[in-house]
Amino acid sequence: MSYYVTTPIFYVNGEPHLGHAYSLIAADIFARHHRQRGEDVFFLTGTDEHGEPVSQAAEKAGMAPRQFADLHAKGFQALVPAVNASNDFFIRTTDPRHIKRVQEVMQRVHDNGYVYEGEYIGFYCPRCADFKTESEIGPGHRCPIHEIELTEEAETNWFFRLSAFEEPLRRLYAERPDWVLPEFRRNEALSFIEGGLRDVSVSRARLDWGVPLPWDPDQVMYVWFDALLNYYTALGFADAGRADLTGRFWPPRHIIAKDILKFHAVYWPALLMAAGIETPHSLYIHGYLLMDDKKMSKSLGNGLDPFAVIERFGADSLRFYCFREVSFGQDGSISPVGFEARYETELANDFGNLASRVLAMVERYRDGFVPDGRPDPAVSEAPDGLASLPSELIDAFDNSELSAALEVIWRRVRRLNRYVEESAPWQLAKAADGGDAAARAALDRVLYNLVEGLRVITLALSPYIPQSVETLLDALAEPDRALAEFGSRSGGQMVRRIAPLFPKIDPDKAA
Ligand code: MSP
Repeated sequence: MSYYVTTPIFYVNGEPHLGHAYSLIAADIFARHHRQRGEDVFFLTGTDEHGEPVSQAAEKAGMAPRQFADLHAKGFQALVPAVNASNDFFIRTTDPRHIKRVQEVMQRVHDNGYVYEGEYIGFYCPRCADFKTESEIGPGHRCPIHEIELTEEAETNWFFRLSAFEEPLRRLYAERPDWVLPEFRRNEALSFIEGGLRDVSVSRARLDWGVPLPWDPDQVMYVWFDALLNYYTALGFADAGRADLTGRFWPPRHIIAKDILKFHAVYWPALLMAAGIETPHSLYIHGYLLMDDKKMSKSLGNGLDPFAVIERFGADSLRFYCFREVSFGQDGSISPVGFEARYETELANDFGNLASRVLAMVERYRDGFVPDGRPDPAVSEAPDGLASLPSELIDAFDNSELSAALEVIWRRVRRLNRYVEESAPWQLAKAADGGDAAARAALDRVLYNLVEGLRVITLALSPYIPQSVETLLDALAEPDRALAEFGSRSGGQMVRRIAPLFPKIDPDKAA
């Protein structure tokens, strides 16, 4: 089974902030989880380099757009390994191979009769690169997203017959009720369609930073059409001139935030239909990370620098925090104080200590040798037993509930911690030392269950905190990376003690 997941491609009009990292990490968690299920995964991210948002930022910086885009694309290219994202390809829309394929698709849309020449007048936000509909115009003719004043503009350019797709889009929404998730976002998109669709301009006459229209090279393509097509064009050349991966991976699953819902849930499927290309598998719309109750964004200047957080705490802590603190799909506030609290109580104490304790006990009591054993109902059975971990986890992932899935795992972390306290291996060890054979057997059983519990939990956590998981799986002598059933390994391996996975925060350096 193939699984193709994408992030939005990011505008190169500034430095990446934590909001961008969030989408990237979300898509990475999906990709890693589906690889663990043995699926054929392709994970795409990249940068959106044409159009007004970038050409305006370049002008402000006194640079040529190309030079500016090259410079800022680097920041996003560096973000990918920094958050430890396992993408298969990074697309830049200035790549000539992308441009060529965009032109081919748009020519098809043209030849199929879905574009015409006309005049457009409307309120325009250059940062969104979007003419706003009436309901999208905020008080004082401002953009509700960027809080800047909208300008009324008129242009003669080429139009895409979006209105022709009202019926086909309604059908798409009726036939595939969960193609846009969560449901309240689907309803938002559907009501936009039901409000009536106006044709949209697909070209810009007064801009030269973009993809020339193949049938009218004096105009460049509206950046959104160029950008959306990245999801399609990339598969054509991601394999370095070898296979075209489109047949293997199309259709995609898109991860985006609500600011770009309309483009993905309305324009994009219509454009694909007009070109005769299969529509995406699904869209998942996540919420915003907020700081001081405001959306982080470049234009509002309140973004948190992900590189700084990662340098201090590591990528795993950031990945964990984002999906633990904010329920995936909702907006949620993040803060340095909240971050440190989660780090200490959950990563360092709940999980890090559990791992250290279990490994240290096996080393102390059994010289690192894990006794053979079988699942103990005291830790495997419901509620929150380890036996049901994989199935509950898969259900949560299949509903795209990344925070609920993490809670499914965390309930097992807590359960295993309780098991340590309840079974008190140190007392069993003492009694065993005094010659108590039953205590010795009980200690074997407990140690086996602790190691096996830690192993299945660690594997389940690998999409969230992949670096720490690698260290731990190595210490656990676990060669596999697939999701595992509790009790599927019988013991007999040698494990070793590790340094704390999440060391205490140095108070001198804390925020
Ligand atoms: N270039 C367009 C997308 C084209 S996709 C074909 C664009 N770029 S962007 O750089 O502005 O990135 C927008 C996306 O970044 C959002 O949809 C979201 O995925 C992510 N986020 C940006 N700020 C965010 C938050 N504060 N919180 C969560 N995600 C955020 O729009």
